[in-house]
Amino acid sequence: MSQERPSSFYFKGVRFDNSSNLKALELVESFEVREDDVFISAYPKSGTTWTQQIVSLVCAEGDISELCKVPLQARTPWLETLDMSGRLGVGAGEPRPILLKSAPSPRLMKTHLPYHLLPQQARDGKGKIIYCARNVKDVVVSWHNMRRMVEHVPCGTWEENFQDFITPDLAFYGFWWDVIPEYWRHKDDDNLLFIKYEDLKRDLRGHVVMIADFLGKTLSDQRIDEVVANCTFSAMKENPSTNYSRNPMLQKVFSKVEGSGIEFIRKGEVGDWKNWFSAEENETLEAIHKEKMAGTDLSFQYE
Ligand code: A3P
Repeated sequence: MSQERPSSFYFKGVRFDNSSNLKALELVESFEVREDDVFISAYPKSGTTWTQQIVSLVCAEGDISELCKVPLQARTPWLETLDMSGRLGVGAGEPRPILLKSAPSPRLMKTHLPYHLLPQQARDGKGKIIYCARNVKDVVVSWHNMRRMVEHVPCGTWEENFQDFITPDLAFYGFWWDVIPEYWRHKDDDNLLFIKYEDLKRDLRGHVVMIADFLGKTLSDQRIDEVVANCTFSAMKENPSTNYSRNPMLQKVFSKVEGSGIEFIRKGEVGDWKNWFSAEENETLEAIHKEKMAGTDLSFQYE
């Protein structure tokens, strides 16, 4: 092993890295959900940030170009963490479920939690959940590259990170093959919209309309164009509020030496896994996939 293992902890059998916080996690289940709450959920590296940006702009009332300057983590705070930015204005360092109690509606929140760890009231149908999933091969690659870039997590080699990812007890934020089928089983729930990263790539505009529809928003064609223009890969890469590697407040956290040159909004492609997987790794992952996904009708595009 090249370096010490990432610092991590377990909550209800799920492994978390230190971006998440135990106190915050303990408060999530009983978090009081409002009818107009929106939970933007995704397994890490599956299009969370992209979906956050789309939802935030779809829900925007005023000038989109001004809103685009506000850091995304302030517009769509991460539920199971501590607020370290102070940007919600109420005591930096507090667990977000506490701070969010007094946040104005509509509250748009990001989460990486498995479905069964979401607030009970959301699982009972209150508020809305938008879930974005991505093909697992590109998720592993994006995950590894994030570890190379983020300062507070030891990066590990590609082989180590791959191995952790395919090991149920070592995978962070749950085992992909447990988490994604669990959300998929809820795809027909009235308060859940299940989307895929690869479909967003194929038809961004169509998804902006679909998400607006799901959230009960009617947007003019011009407004839809504006949202789309600010959600493309290049727009989000250029924008320091969505590309944390270019955000003066977060730059240091997202630019560790092992990953010099990698940015948070990194490559944004379908099929980058081909540049990383050995034939053997591909076989191993495909065998797991075949076994664990048997019985679901969920499929992904890999190139
Ligand atoms: P890559 O590392 O493959 O480039 P998350 O937000 O869940 O952490 O996911 C990050 C992944 O989404 C990264 O993938 C990032 O580049 C990609 N991404 C973010 N915004 C995107 C956009 N507008 N278009 C395409 N991919 C995007």
